[in-house]
Amino acid sequence: MSTPFRIAIAGLGTVGAGTVRLIAENADLLAARAGRRIEITAVSARTRSADRGGDLAPFAWEDDPAALAGRGDVDAVVEVIGGVGGAGEAAVRAALGAGKPVVTANKALMAEHGLQLAKTAEAAGVALRVVAAVAGGIPVI
Ligand SMILES: NC(=O)c1ccc[n+]([C@@H]2O[C@H](COP(=O)([O-])OP(=O)(O)OC[C@H]3O[C@@H](n4cnc5c(N)ncnc54)[C@H](OP(=O)(O)O)[C@@H]3O)[C@@H](O)[C@H]2O)c1
Repeated sequence: MSTPFRIAIAGLGTVGAGTVRLIAENADLLAARAGRRIEITAVSARTRSADRGGDLAPFAWEDDPAALAGRGDVDAVVEVIGGVGGAGEAAVRAALGAGKPVVTANKALMAEHGLQLAKTAEAAGVALRVVAAVAGGIPVI
């Protein structure tokens, strides 16, 4: 199998910590579907010492979520901080600016700046995936 696809998780709250757990629990299934392993290499949140219900030691830590985009060991950024005009938006813009794909669950950001961000992503030739922002339950339904 080819080299792992390396992702960074910006935000380790309800969605972010759950994403970390699900990627670990479903590693083989995800690899089979994607054709390569999905590997979390770096994470960011406000409080490094907070209990997230799992071991974050294997991952590099960034205090500033926007810094995830500049890391050489990150192929794509998952933004699950939320909000407009704050750290979540900065992380998304930094990733697109660095030519890296973004997956976001940020409803507010998509509502406010979705079209402009989609154009930025298109101009950069990278994906901006937003289904988690509004439609995470669709596969279940
Ligand atoms: N919860 C849901 O069911 C759900 C469903 C669909 C979509 N969403 C969307 O998913 C996103 C996240 O939701 P959530 O419920 O997971 O929120 P949450 O539990 O409040 O988690 C937010 C995370 O962002 C981190 N954060 C906040 N400000 C930061 C900053 N300045 N720098 C670095 N990290 C920062 C927090 O760090 P600390 O933990 O250290 O405070 C926390 O880990 C939102 O856009 C929300 O609309 C949520």
